[in-house]
Amino acid sequence: MVLNSNIAIDGPAGAGKSTVAKLVARKLGFTYIDTGAMYRAIALKALNDEVSMNDVSGLARLAKDAAVNLETGPGGEIRVLLNGKDVTEQIRKPEVSRVVSLVARVPGVRKQLIEMQKALAEKGGVVMEGRDIGTVVLPEAKVKVFLYASPKERARRRREELAQKGCYVDSFKMEEEIAERDRMDSSRKINPLVPAPDAELIDCSSLTVEQVVNIIMEKVCHS
Ligand code: DC
Repeated sequence: MVLNSNIAIDGPAGAGKSTVAKLVARKLGFTYIDTGAMYRAIALKALNDEVSMNDVSGLARLAKDAAVNLETGPGGEIRVLLNGKDVTEQIRKPEVSRVVSLVARVPGVRKQLIEMQKALAEKGGVVMEGRDIGTVVLPEAKVKVFLYASPKERARRRREELAQKGCYVDSFKMEEEIAERDRMDSSRKINPLVPAPDAELIDCSSLTVEQVVNIIMEKVCHS
């Protein structure tokens, strides 16, 4: 594998993209980029500024004016900065999860964030995760994978993740929310959640994190 090429990891919410992408990045000494966090930062700003989720031009303007930065914290963790303020925890709150798909469907918001994402990957050596990385942001990436799992399993994982942070959500409600987000992300007109034609599809429902990482590393070695 060319050491400065990029890796694209796409898939629906809760398929385990972040865990897997971080581990692959660590193994290769690459930079990990969570593009969902960037959409979440814009959604948080819209909530804070009381911009309506239907105000397409207001949301686009907000994305243009916002400075979203990803930084590595002292313990190696990724911190998300919005106009210089650390919003890493705030962007994971259920109220942000509920509206982020509405923000992500706005063309002006996507244009702005995609430009930033392309710039971040310009020099290579990046593992980028999201929904449209293999199709739109990094169509030239040498390694592309699309991770998925059943909605039930994804809801279980998300609940576990939130419970670790002391936030408890009803399992039925979580499954419904995930299904609704999938529906919106897959059916939106612009850059919907679909695997790139040259992506490897990996069903993570019954695979361990280590197994998924190994499949990707294998692909990296042969690319
Ligand atoms: O991965 P996540 O759940 O943090 O993503 C939050 C939202 O952002 C999700 O509704 C899909 C959207 N998103 C997107 O449209 N394109 C991306 N590249 C990444 C995320």
